[in-house]
Amino acid sequence: MTQSQPLVLGIETSCDETAVGIVAGRNLLSNVIASSVDEHERFGGVVPEIASRAHLEAIWPAIERAAREAKISLDDLDAISVTAGPGLVGALLVGVSAANGLALALDKPLYGVNHLASHVAVDLLTHEKPVGPAIALLVSGGHSSILKLESLTGSYEQLGRTLDDAAGEAFDKIARLLGLGFPGGPLIDREAKSGKVAIDFPRGMTAAKDQGDHRFDFSFSGLKTAVSRYLKATPQYLRADVATSFQEAVVDVLTMKSIDACKASGIETLLIGGGVAANSRLRELAGERAKKAGLELRIPPASLCTDNGAMVAALGAQLLSDGVSPSELGIAVDSSASVSTTSWI
Ligand code: KG4
Ligand code: ZN
Repeated sequence: MTQSQPLVLGIETSCDETAVGIVAGRNLLSNVIASSVDEHERFGGVVPEIASRAHLEAIWPAIERAAREAKISLDDLDAISVTAGPGLVGALLVGVSAANGLALALDKPLYGVNHLASHVAVDLLTHEKPVGPAIALLVSGGHSSILKLESLTGSYEQLGRTLDDAAGEAFDKIARLLGLGFPGGPLIDREAKSGKVAIDFPRGMTAAKDQGDHRFDFSFSGLKTAVSRYLKATPQYLRADVATSFQEAVVDVLTMKSIDACKASGIETLLIGGGVAANSRLRELAGERAKKAGLELRIPPASLCTDNGAMVAALGAQLLSDGVSPSELGIAVDSSASVSTTSWI
């Protein structure tokens, strides 16, 4: 295996997915995901202690399965890559400890990478042409940001972020109000297929007064309150219409602001990543609006939008190919790492 196609194993345990992926450069060889989501469902959200315990049980079997499915021996690896933050401390620790152990035992370099950057870097696996300067809309359960980047492995500048809930969190909370279950994003997405945009819910941070300092920021708390008030005031509400109208309000703002960021920066590529990028209406509306604005739109397939190990492996492989020095063995986790760090050196 040449260094331009390094064989890298990536470990992701920042939330409730124990995920291990193996890549050869930009080619995906295996992508194993064990989720503890069912164990969290009755609590309506991820319980950190349950997630950590589930990671402990799932991590080694996932590593072995990923190697088996990729038809490689762990000795063949060129490097190990692992999510070192942001995320739940106990959950991150399981992945980082496993990665440290593997790197030490196999005598391989270790790359600690940023979870948010790897959501963006998954593009490496899905597009032939490397990304140049781009605006990235990163929308997950914990984050919603608009980022400006020169390249996938360079540093990321945050142009805007959510001032309260993340987009995925808003989906999860509204799904709970609608009695749809957890995680709410995919359930609202499905429910919305049979509804119509019947209610004009507010678009946070889009008023004229927000166009200055908050031009690229998001806020979903007003929308959440509006939905909750609507439900109380309308006992006979149609669930599918509420889901569709809520979803439209979220994706309208997400796409509007990220396209505005491209125009303001003179950048012609828009990348969308993170769990919410799996949303079918977001993908559709982003496609329509990007086309109209003459922008190139890059979104990974839905299966690579939610947390996975392949994205971590892809970013690690690119850092190795770029000649970036590996992290120190024994790296610590950083549960609140900012997106400006792609990797832990
Ligand atoms: O990136 P991710 O897997 O984990 C974090 O890093 O947070 O994102 C999970 C979030 C959850 O809030 C989930 O409800 C949301 O992504 N999500 C969706 C869809 N699929 C997952 N939101 C809207 N539509 C979807 N189809
Ligand atoms: Zn994520």
